[in-house]
Amino acid sequence: MKRPSIPAIRSSKVRDGSEPLVMVTAYDAPSARVASEAGVDLILVGDSLAMVVLGYDDTMQVTTEDIAHHVAAVARANPDAVIIGDMPWMSFHVSVEETVHNAATLIRAGAHCVKLEGGRKRLPMIEAIRAAEIPVMGHVGLTPQSMNVMGGFKVQARQAAAARSLVDAAKALESAGCFSIVVEGVPDAVGAMVTEAINVPIIGIGAGPGCDGQVLVYHDLIGLENRFKPKFVRRYGTAYEDQVDSLTRFAADVRSGDFPGEDEIYRANDDLTEALGLYGSQPTED
Ligand code: KIV
Repeated sequence: MKRPSIPAIRSSKVRDGSEPLVMVTAYDAPSARVASEAGVDLILVGDSLAMVVLGYDDTMQVTTEDIAHHVAAVARANPDAVIIGDMPWMSFHVSVEETVHNAATLIRAGAHCVKLEGGRKRLPMIEAIRAAEIPVMGHVGLTPQSMNVMGGFKVQARQAAAARSLVDAAKALESAGCFSIVVEGVPDAVGAMVTEAINVPIIGIGAGPGCDGQVLVYHDLIGLENRFKPKFVRRYGTAYEDQVDSLTRFAADVRSGDFPGEDEIYRANDDLTEALGLYGSQPTED
């Protein structure tokens, strides 16, 4: 499979006959290789890194340097998918200059484009990044970087007025040049409404089936994050239990002396055993 281009992603609307886009997060080379082999279209090196990999309680704890470090790991796997560098909290809030500089840091680390959270307030930043020839993905609805303002991870746009203003925000992001927009944590009808109203693909997470694509956090979908399961997550694996099982069996084999076995050692030859004074030990390896 070949990596899709940004213009190809931009024109992927289900209503025009395109297949839904598939996006997952990934934060390191092995997961990027898995995502690539599975044929996903887009890999997001998300600021969810903070919670699912680095053990923080929210996404506000990661910096541009943290995201760049993990973008570089994903890029080294050379996946057949578009790599999106997520712009963390405070990397696009202070000034347009700082925003462009931080976006460039993620591109130089290996991202093909960046994503940032927020609506109209972010338009000058989005336009400046676009003017620097960097493709931008928007993100509206439940935006985790605003969780203190929103009062937690709460479903957004439950009222008609809020739903209309979400559609207006998405239109503004489209006009500012976003090639795609993530819509997170909204009722299904609102996900479908914004998808209908916007001409670039809407990628949903907890936004119902009426979007142009879906994204999930890698650790949620493989079952490696097993502490909390948001309603919109479908677990496709039992990675946490599988890994506990592997390490438990390793520990048991080490403790019983069963590991390492005959096939798992570099056998010393006779010359070495003789030179070391270890006569009459084991047979040599061929
Ligand atoms: O950081 C992330 O994982 C995200 C997704 C939830 C879209 O932004």
